[in-house]
Order: sequence, then C-alpha cells, then structure tokens
Amino acid sequence: MRQPRLSTTFFALLIQASLLLPLSLGYNHANSCRSYCGNITIDYPFGVKYGCGHPGYRDLLYCVNDVLMFHISSGSYRVLDIDYTFQALTLHDPHLSTCNKIVLESRGNGFVVEPWRKPYLTPTPDNAFLLLGCTRNSPLFKGFPSNKHLPCRNISGLGCEDYYRCPAWGSIGPTEVGLVAGLGPPECCAVAFDEVGSVQGINLTKLECQAYSSVYNLAPLRVDGPHEWSYGIRVKYSIQGHDAFCRSCEATKGTCGYKGSDDSGITELCMCDTWNSTANCESTSVESMTANSAILRGSISIFALLAGFHFHMIL
Ligand SMILES: *[C@@H]1O[C@H](CO)[C@@H](O)[C@H](O)[C@H]1NC(C)=O
Ligand SMILES: *[C@@H]1O[C@H](CO)[C@@H](O)[C@H](O)[C@H]1NC(C)=O
Ligand SMILES: *[C@@H]1O[C@H](CO)[C@@H](O)[C@H](O)[C@H]1NC(C)=O
Ligand SMILES: *[C@@H]1O[C@H](CO)[C@@H](O)[C@H](O)[C@H]1NC(C)=O
Repeated sequence: MRQPRLSTTFFALLIQASLLLPLSLGYNHANSCRSYCGNITIDYPFGVKYGCGHPGYRDLLYCVNDVLMFHISSGSYRVLDIDYTFQALTLHDPHLSTCNKIVLESRGNGFVVEPWRKPYLTPTPDNAFLLLGCTRNSPLFKGFPSNKHLPCRNISGLGCEDYYRCPAWGSIGPTEVGLVAGLGPPECCAVAFDEVGSVQGINLTKLECQAYSSVYNLAPLRVDGPHEWSYGIRVKYSIQGHDAFCRSCEATKGTCGYKGSDDSGITELCMCDTWNSTANCESTSVESMTANSAILRGSISIFALLAGFHFHMIL
C-alpha cells in the first residue's frame, strides 16, 4: 500500500511544481520597466526597452555604456537629467556652442523632432536658442533690412548682447559683420522655440546658420552673465490626456507600456503580474492568448494543490 501512496503524492507534487513554476516566474514582470542608465532613473513615460513607457516616447532613449542618449530627427543628444517633477529633460549636444567655444565646423543638431512626436516633446518657453552666423538669406531675416520685426529678442533675460561678452567671440568677433556694425543681419539671433521652430523645428540647414547655442534658465534668480548660464536644451515632455490610462493601470499595481509596431499600430498596455491588459489589472479585458492560458494554468494548479491535499487526507 505504501508504494502507490508515495507515487500519487509525488505525482501530485510534480504537477504542482510544473504548473506553479511558470506562474511564479511571471511575478517578476511587475515594474520590470523601471531602470537606470548611469545615475539617471528611467521611468514612465520613458523606457529603454521595447514595450516600456508611453508610446509617444518609444525609440527615443538608448542607454549606451551607462550614457543615456536621446535620438530624434536632428540627431543624438546626451541626456544630463530627467526631471520627473517638472516634466523636463536636459540635453547636451556636443556640437553646441558655449561661452568658451563657438563650434563652427559642424552645424550642430539644432532641434527637430519627427512630426508624430511633436505633441510629446517641445523645448521649454524659457529656453533660448542662439542662432549664430546665419546668412542674410536666412528665413529669420526675411525682408531684412526693411522688415524691422526680426524674431531675435531676449528670452527670459537670455540674449545675444550678453552672449557677445563671451570669450568664445574672441577669435571671431561679432563686430566684424552683422547688426553690431550696422551693416547686415545680426551675427547672433536669440529665439524661443515656439516663434521659429514650432513648424519645422530649429533646423540649422533650413535657417542657414553656421552654429548655435542653447541656454536655459532654471532658477528665477538672475545669474551673473553668460559664464554662469546653463548651456544645453531644456525640453518639456507632456503626455496630455493620455495619462489617464497609466494612472488607472498603476492604481491596480500594473506597469504601463505599449505593444505593436508602426506597421501594425501601437496600443497602450497595462502589464500585470501574469498577463497584459488593455485597461488595468482589475479589468477583465485580457490582452492575449498567453494571458488566457496563464489564468487557465492558475486554476489547474489550484486544483492540483487541492487534489494533493486531498491525497494526504485520504492516506
Ligand atoms: C550623475 O552623476 C554625475 C557625475 O557622475 C553628476 O554630475 C550628476 O549630477 C548626477 N546626476 C544625477 C541626476 O544625480
Ligand atoms: C506583455 O507585453 C509586453 C510588452 O509588449 C511583452 O514583452 C510581454 O511578453 C507580454 N506578456 C504577456 C504575458 O503577454
Ligand atoms: C532640415 O532642412 C533641410 C533643408 O530643408 C532638410 O533637407 C533636412 O531634412 C531638415 N532636417 C531635419 C532633421 O528635418
Ligand atoms: C537684452 O538684455 C540686455 C541686457 O541683458 C539689454 O542690454 C538688451 O537691450 C536687451 N535686448 C532686447 C532686444 O531687449
């Protein structure tokens, strides 16, 4: 009588083990999207893995050797910071001119995003783009000199008059050409993104500029001149009305993500412990067949547990 008892118990345990294993592995899924790149936290709406984050930010961030890179149509930028409270990213372009150096050899990236991404990313209104060495024919100076309404101005106290004081001008000298000498268009023109870039972005080729700088103001207090300005591009991210999906998902302990591709279409997804939902982890809108079978496995293993327990009771 002992032999069959042992084998049935063993058999029941075996079933339980094999059925429970995939389920317990599945639990690691929760929050598998949150990660780090160097010391920068990657969290919703961003992601560095396929399926993680909001689809508006897909194929945007790449972590290369602990350096977080931001990739858009105008090029690649290094991400210095992601400010989740103020919903802003700080970017650095190696071709960006600073107070110490005007980078002429390559035009620099400027800032141009893919049309579909425009609602999700835009430089902040207090970020000043300093466009340098733009030609007389630049769209910036359309109608110059008769047109006095140049877009150039000070943005949040950041402007070209101050920038001309930078040592970077030492070798080139803003007085050689341009408005400073009263002859032609200004050698530096500071603009806010919205005024020039909202349609086509800050495209240095299109604007016929040789170089650019970008400065932003974080604190309301004024800093003491262009040496102390923050050089980089401050970009606001905004998911607008789409946030409701993620809030509902996270409220049920899900992780927000997406599925699909540009060809098949992209849908937001709520990743729950063992399944994916198109709503949240308490809804019944099961996402996929694998999810269905996971639930099926769940009920079988409960049955097996009860059965195993039952065997013990009998013997
Ligand atoms: C990350 O580390 C760098 C130096 O390694 C530091 O300058 C920077 O402030 C850090 N960023 C954050 C968000 O902690
Ligand atoms: C849930 O979706 C993510 C992202 O698309 C995918 O990697 C994962 O395999 C899916 N899980 C299930 C159980 O379908
Ligand atoms: C910038 O403008 C040029 C000239 O119009 C165009 O060929 C190029 O594709 C634009 N760059 C981007 C990143 O849109
Ligand atoms: C911009 O600010 C500087 C001082 O920082 C001032 O001298 C200049 O007149 C201002 N320019 C414009 C166009 O307001």
